This record gives sequence, structure tokens and C-alpha cells, in this order.
Amino acid sequence: MSATVTEETAMLQPELDRDIGGPAQPLVIARDLVKHFPLKNGMPALPWRPKAGGTVVRAVDGISFEVRKGETLGVVGESGCGKSTTARLLMQLLRQDTGELIFDAQGVGSHQLPMKRFRSQVQMVFQDSYSSLNPRLTIEESIAFTPRVHGVPAREATERARYLLSRVGLEPARFAGRYPHELSGGQRQRVNIARALVLRPRLVILDEAVSALDKSVEAQVLNLLMDLKAEFDLTYVFISHDLNVVRYLCDRVMVMYLGKVVEIGDTEAIYRNPAHPYTRALLASMPSMDPDHRTETAPLAGDPPNPIDPPPGCSFHPRCAFAEPVCTRRMPVLTDTVAGHPVACLMADPAGGHGQRMPPMPHALTQRPVDLSQEICL
Ligand SMILES: Nc1ncnc2c1ncn2[C@@H]1O[C@H](COP(=O)(O)OP(=O)(O)OP(=O)(O)O)[C@@H](O)[C@H]1O
Ligand code: SF4
Ligand SMILES: [Mg+2]
Repeated sequence: MSATVTEETAMLQPELDRDIGGPAQPLVIARDLVKHFPLKNGMPALPWRPKAGGTVVRAVDGISFEVRKGETLGVVGESGCGKSTTARLLMQLLRQDTGELIFDAQGVGSHQLPMKRFRSQVQMVFQDSYSSLNPRLTIEESIAFTPRVHGVPAREATERARYLLSRVGLEPARFAGRYPHELSGGQRQRVNIARALVLRPRLVILDEAVSALDKSVEAQVLNLLMDLKAEFDLTYVFISHDLNVVRYLCDRVMVMYLGKVVEIGDTEAIYRNPAHPYTRALLASMPSMDPDHRTETAPLAGDPPNPIDPPPGCSFHPRCAFAEPVCTRRMPVLTDTVAGHPVACLMADPAGGHGQRMPPMPHALTQRPVDLSQEICL
């Protein structure tokens, strides 16, 4: 291929107004998003709106947050806390029951930003690299398929596919004609990343996208993601159970518990001094390969409560080491606190009616090294 990287990147640029609201305008504003899944006889019901008073799984239960332009926002929390449902709402693969989504100052689904145009600007990479690809298409055809659906001529769609294959480290001459089963897991995930970029999106949601890979392959794919972010001017939402990787990769982190956001802020501020007892317990369970930086703090005990029938008051109270009677009556809301970032805990709110203040962080956690590159083999 004779074109330079800059020319090729420009070729992928869609004819859309980019950066409409300016750099200070968040790329995404999510306001009070709610997604409840109706159940019938304990099984998922047909995906209609839940009837008032019917049994529902409160997968996402009124969350508000922003994704800033150019950042990587990490989303963490135990299994079932609503991370993937949040991702699917962000991408509008699922429609929220209530709440609002603003993308670069424009309401998603409004006449300013119709759904088709919004969808071309947001893409997602899932954990399972195999099921995301059509086994009957070569990887070049898979990548070229989306632009073809959006009306791009066949030749240009193929050129884009081949360029992106080379950008994700798969030499088109060797790989373009292969089928998904002829690739390793890491190679297939590279194809999924190329496919996510083919419409030149602005936001890419990575839902456990590297979790199924071997550590060394994971490190290579993470490096690739960071290179592509710079080259294509991307914003990432990075969902992961690996708190070491989140610390290394993310500018800010959002902690979810039982369908709610309990803490959100700059990654280093939260990792050095988490203000919510759940975040603290989650970080205490983070493995460290350095024997000098292991913590004695008790990690989380027990399982999360049932999202069909969450406990009254603060839903974390049955597991919280700092719970007081007020926590069973009063539901904390996400508010700015002395910690310098929003937290949903009565203890962090001077008007919360809680009798204690959060004790200082255990030394072993606060002193953990900032550069974790060795721990995740980057
Ligand atoms: N289609 C659905 N019907 C009914 N319940 C659902 C549906 N999708 C998700 N849920 C429930 O919603 C809750 C949140 O699920 P979600 O997949 O968002 O969690 P998660 O944080 O991504 O978990 P994990 O870390 O295991 O991927 C869970 O209790 C889940 O069982
Ligand atoms: S509100 Fe109470 S139970 Fe909930 S996290 Fe804070 S201290 Fe714990
Ligand atoms: Mg998930």
C-alpha cells in the first residue's frame, strides 16, 4: 500500500462533525439511567417494559456519570453489578427504561443525533472473540461488512479492512483470507478491534476484551489499544475485573455495586485513598506480586445481595464493616465529598447521620507502586 499512515487514517474519517461541543464538553453524559429486566416465574420475561409492581432484576438502577473526551474510563465491580448492562445502554443495544444519554452535547435518538449516526460513533469489543465473528466470512470480509452496510463502495470497504488489519498487526497478505477458526484467540481479538474501528468511531467500549487472553498476549493487545487510541483519537470505556490493568490503563475509574455507582474519580486518587468501604474492600482483594506490598485488610466477605430484592437503605450494609443502624434506613446518594470526588456513602457525607469517619488506608495499599508494568508484563 502506498498511502502513508496519516493519509490512510484520514481515509477512515467519516463525514461527520467531530468534537461538536469542544474539548470541555463530555463525550457522554449519562443521566439517571435505569434498566430493570422483568422476570416471570423467576425466569427472564419477554423484553417488554416491566409492569408496575412486577418482579424485576435491577440491573442498572439510576446511574449518572460522564465520559470525558480522550479519556479511558475504567468500570469495575463484582460479577452481576451491572457493568455489561451499562455498556449495552451506552451503545444503545438496550434501551433504558428511564434516563437520558447525551453524546457530545446532542441527545441520543434526537433529530440532531439519530440512532444510526450515533451507533456509527460508538463501537464495542466483547470478551468472546470467536462468537463476535461470522465463521462463514473471511476476516477481511468480516471487517468490510459494516462499512458496506453503511453504503461504502466494496473497493473502499476492502481497502479499509486491509489497512486496519495491518494496523492491528495482522499482515493482510497472510491473514486477510483466513477464517476465524484459523486464528488464535489473540489474533481474533485483533480482528474484532479492527472491525470496531472500521467506521472510525469516537467511543470504544471494551467489555472484558482482554480477559480471556494469556497474560503475554493480553499485554500486547493492551499496548496495541493504547497506540490505536492515540492514532485514532479515541475515548475508551474499559470494563475489567483486573484491577491492576485498570490502574495501569485508566485515567478515571467508576466503581459499581448492585446496579449503582458508588464511587467515581481519578484512578490514582481512588487507588491511593478509596472513600467507599466497598471500593476499599475490592482493592484489598487485589493480588500483588510484591511481597512488601501485600495487604492484611480483609477482602470482601459473602456474596452480593439479590438484585431482585436489594436490602433497604445502603445496599452494601449487610457486608459493610462500617455499617450503622442509619445505613439500613437511609439510601446514600452519589455526592461530592471531602475525598475530592463523588462517593455514595453516608460516612463520607457530613450530613449523612453516620457516627464514624473513614479511617486512614492501610499502609500496604497506599504504598503500592504506581507503575505496575512489571505486574502485568507490559
Ligand atoms: N437479559 C436479562 N434478563 C434478566 N436479567 C439480566 C439480563 N441481563 C443481565 N441480567 C442481570 O442483570 C444483572 C447485571 O448483569 P450484567 O451482565 O450487567 O453484570 P456484569 O457486571 O457485567 O457481570 P459480569 O462481571 O459477570 O460480566 C445480573 O443480575 C444479571 O443476571
Ligand atoms: S452507607 Fe453505611 S453501609 Fe453503606 S457503605 Fe457507607 S458506611 Fe457502609
Ligand atoms: Mg459483564
